[in-house]
Amino acid sequence: MSIRQDLDKLNKKEAFSLHMPGHKGVRLKTDTTEISLTDNLLHPCGSIKELEKSIAHIYDVKKAYIGTNGSTGLLMSSLLYAGKGKKVLLPRSSHQSIYKGIIDQGQEPIYLRNKIDSLGIARPIPAKDYLEHMGKIDTAIFNNPTYEGYMEDYALLKPFLKDKLSILDGAHGSHLYYIHNQTNNWMSLQIHSFHKTLGAMNQGAVMLSNLEDDFREYANFYQTTSPSFPILLSIEDSIREMMTTKVDKRLSEIDHLKKEISKIRGFHVIDNDDPLKILLIIDKNISVKVVVEWLEEKRGVFFELSTDKYLLGILSFYDTQGNYDWFLKSLKMASRNFKMSNDFVCDKDAYAGVGVEEQYIPTMKLLPGEAFFGEKKAVSIRESKGFVSGVLYSHYPPGAPLLVPGEIIDDYVIENMLNWKGDYTGCDEIKDDIIFVIK
Ligand SMILES: Cc1ncc(COP(=O)(O)O)c(C=O)c1O
Repeated sequence: MSIRQDLDKLNKKEAFSLHMPGHKGVRLKTDTTEISLTDNLLHPCGSIKELEKSIAHIYDVKKAYIGTNGSTGLLMSSLLYAGKGKKVLLPRSSHQSIYKGIIDQGQEPIYLRNKIDSLGIARPIPAKDYLEHMGKIDTAIFNNPTYEGYMEDYALLKPFLKDKLSILDGAHGSHLYYIHNQTNNWMSLQIHSFHKTLGAMNQGAVMLSNLEDDFREYANFYQTTSPSFPILLSIEDSIREMMTTKVDKRLSEIDHLKKEISKIRGFHVIDNDDPLKILLIIDKNISVKVVVEWLEEKRGVFFELSTDKYLLGILSFYDTQGNYDWFLKSLKMASRNFKMSNDFVCDKDAYAGVGVEEQYIPTMKLLPGEAFFGEKKAVSIRESKGFVSGVLYSHYPPGAPLLVPGEIIDDYVIENMLNWKGDYTGCDEIKDDIIFVIK
């Protein structure tokens, strides 16, 4: 039985719903709950279990566990499994959900510094950088592919991680199997957001496990007890739809699109490793912000992210040729409208993606968990120099932290916080120039 068959049967049979959800199908027919005709995500034994088995088979791992709380919930559960107080090696640019797990488990982070290229993009940590820490850690965390679509093969670390826990934040990599790039699927736990690069609805994610242990208890830990059936169904549908997707044809269409964009005066596609991520730079004399606003307003084209240096778009197997034609026409119109020329960021490193800067990491005085749960007081950001942060401060997206709880606030941090006016996780008062520090 599939989830869709369960739901079809239920919709045909049910004359009166005396169970949750309270909208009784008025909002969405597939939004139901665990009853005799449907399976239970927290203890699956029917259609959900079947789906997990087929995902594990497709991705060639021992087991798969579905989550309806995004990669966020599953990454936190992987750190729960890693255990209290463990030493965790991770890229500094890791997503905030990983930091939340480390805080929750009182773990000790050991950071690997990302190289920041001349566009301000954090590049993946090379495998060799992990090697020197192998003797002193319990768990290693990897991020592949990165938000901006850069990839790394960590195969050489396999023998060194035999007796340790390896966790892959593959939130942006649910499609890798389909594009024949699964070099990291040997890791103990791999977390993928099926809603980011496959066709699942928001929050649909999967944990792939190569552990001997059953992970269910951990996967359930940060899981709602009312999992969304529309999300579960969308994961099942997305897997089925990929069976009939002509991936190679779609990839060559994407390749063609990127080449055509680079022919438009004033636009250039930067090389990366993930075909579904499109990184664009524009004529350096024109503000990215102004072009983005024009594309949104005049053409209804919305990007995933834009900075003062580049634009990031997410493509998917659900785009159509019509979408691509519209996009190309829109960029051509923008090029004419702004009288663009091929005068790009002068630094040629931007093209080659050479690391120009090591990521900055403030000094750690307390463990993130000690600081987060410590007694705090509010101080003005301008006067916070020398205090130990009680909060995580990150710029979202993509969410890499500037400041982690337990770190000493210094001039660099203050300057960036004031410049970003960004997302101060856990506190809205950034607009009032306030930060919570340890008393
Ligand atoms: C690298 C990375 N990891 C994890 C996540 C969390 O994924 P989700 O939104 O599915 O919770 C994100 C979200 O943007 C991310 O970029």
